[in-house]
Amino acid sequence: ARGEVQLINLPQVHDPRGDLTFVEGGNHIPFDIKRVYYLYNVPVDAERGGHAHRDLEQIVFALSGSFRLKIDDGRQKSEYWLRDPRKGLYISRLIWREMDSFSQGAVCMVLASHPYDEGDYYRDYDGFISALRDDV
Ligand code: TYD
Repeated sequence: ARGEVQLINLPQVHDPRGDLTFVEGGNHIPFDIKRVYYLYNVPVDAERGGHAHRDLEQIVFALSGSFRLKIDDGRQKSEYWLRDPRKGLYISRLIWREMDSFSQGAVCMVLASHPYDEGDYYRDYDGFISALRDDV
């Protein structure tokens, strides 16, 4: 799929000792997980993202704290406030994303469909728009 975002709900095992959430490849995630990365120590006034990907699919979680995720498929813009560690936002290929308004101590975890590849990035918005046009 291209140009698609969708909220993914993970299971939660509630316990007086604390809550537990798990992710199973092949079950909760619509791609094979090839990489996990996380953002932390993010200053509250930082802006991250500002790019799209040719092939990469990702699911973004707020493991702790909260932040805003701005989504742009080239036609419509939307925004999501992630703050529940059970809920991730699936982001398909060819979606422009920006992140800001990180709370103090927020941790953002991302599951990704490919290893890191700078050649997969569109870091220029106009380049992203023309890639959308050229993608059949
Ligand atoms: P970038 O994807 O631009 O971060 P964000 O979208 O969160 O603002 O990556 C920032 C830097 O980190 C960039 O130099 C590439 C590097 N990086 C890796 O080396 N490996 C990775 O898995 C990721 C996500 C980034």
